[in-house]
Amino acid sequence: MTATPTGETADERNSFVYVVAALAALNGLLFGFDTGVISGAMLYVRETFELATVLGYSLNPSYVEGIIVSGAMIGAIIGAALGGRLADRLGRRRLILIGAVVFFVGSLIMAIAPTVEVLIVGRIVDGIGVGFASVVGPLYISEISPPKIRGSLVSLNQLTITSGILIAYLVNYAFSSGGEWRWMLGLGMIPAAVLFVGMVFMPESPRWLYEQGRESDARAVLSRTRTESRVDEELREIKTTIKTESGTLRDLLEPWVRPMLVVGVGLAVFQQVTGINTVMYYAPTILESTGFEDTASILATVGIGAVNVAMTVVAVLLIDRTGRRPLLLTGLAGMTGMLAILGAAFYLPGLSGIVGWLATGSLMLYVGFFAIGLGPVFWLMISEIYPMEVRGTAMGVVTVINWAGNLIVSLTFLRLVDVFGQSGTFWLYGALSLLALVFCYQLVPETKGRSLEEIEADLRETAFGRETDQPSVADADD
Ligand code: GLC
Repeated sequence: MTATPTGETADERNSFVYVVAALAALNGLLFGFDTGVISGAMLYVRETFELATVLGYSLNPSYVEGIIVSGAMIGAIIGAALGGRLADRLGRRRLILIGAVVFFVGSLIMAIAPTVEVLIVGRIVDGIGVGFASVVGPLYISEISPPKIRGSLVSLNQLTITSGILIAYLVNYAFSSGGEWRWMLGLGMIPAAVLFVGMVFMPESPRWLYEQGRESDARAVLSRTRTESRVDEELREIKTTIKTESGTLRDLLEPWVRPMLVVGVGLAVFQQVTGINTVMYYAPTILESTGFEDTASILATVGIGAVNVAMTVVAVLLIDRTGRRPLLLTGLAGMTGMLAILGAAFYLPGLSGIVGWLATGSLMLYVGFFAIGLGPVFWLMISEIYPMEVRGTAMGVVTVINWAGNLIVSLTFLRLVDVFGQSGTFWLYGALSLLALVFCYQLVPETKGRSLEEIEADLRETAFGRETDQPSVADADD
């Protein structure tokens, strides 16, 4: 190990990058906790408030419930829409700090809400925090990571999303006997506070600093996170690509950026329309229909959350070795197969016994295949494939689409089941997974091991018709 003038070793410097990434990955925890907690809390919110009137208007209570549940997703759409531009203007670190405060305030409002209207406001505010977090978490980690471990570090954010969901399921379970929904929702304040305090001590993204003309600050950050030889090399690379002004929405339509816009939008849509969040939000309901009793279905839901976390760990360990494409394609093939089996299990008569287990097993494996592929790869890929000058804006746009997909799928799931039955609905998601497999096989580039600047240079060169013989951003232009 080589010691540096400050006495650190090369390995110690790298371990600081792990600290920065792990802390920034708390953004994912806010996201996941918010996703997992509401279904449990709603059971008891119903008992506290009269859900038939909002602002003096009489409404159908199930409609009001829908507003409370989806309020956070609407907030997240707003947050993601603003978040991309804000990350470019204010900086990545500052937006993470703002997001943590917004999320904290939202959770506090929900925990003490005296009326249903205030609860809805709290949900929207907390959702705005999640929207910021979902854009800036992966963006910041991607820009601060050395290329060789960027995949694993950015995927830590998906690991904390899945952990947040699992923690929320456990919190729901723990507080369910007393029906303490205010605690369930208010606990989100803890990770938000830790994220805020921790981020105060973390550095800004070196790439954003350089773009602001702050070269010596950028160098200082690289010096804390790289070995001396890598600092110069990386700074040189950054210089080759960065313009000093940030791009606008219109720049996303430039012919050389467009292919990656298609990839990002496609991944965002497919990540949602293949149905993962119907399981995240409705697992107990789905499991009950396979023959589980009440409590058993809540416990089996915890099992699903655990599979999601465990397989994301596998992805984090593999993603920089195998690359993004193999995980994505294997994951999608597995999801397609499992959805086909799941649909068939619901189609067979008598869901008890073996058929019930077939349904539960295929549901768990479906979540596992999502967790090694489409789950982490989407968030990673969108933090890698856009040129620096439009990176924040592009991620904002794609993330808005992802949240809109999330909202639409969760609002339509029960209706789809009414119309097509469970089997028809899962087969529909299965057909969409197959389509996603073809899309990804054809268009999604491999970004493993390349610096963000190499990826960008490749993108520019392909615009002039260069051929490459390995899967790269080049392939997406075909
Ligand atoms: C991904 C999705 C998110 C989903 C989660 C489940 O992060 O973007 O919508 O809830 O995976 O693990």
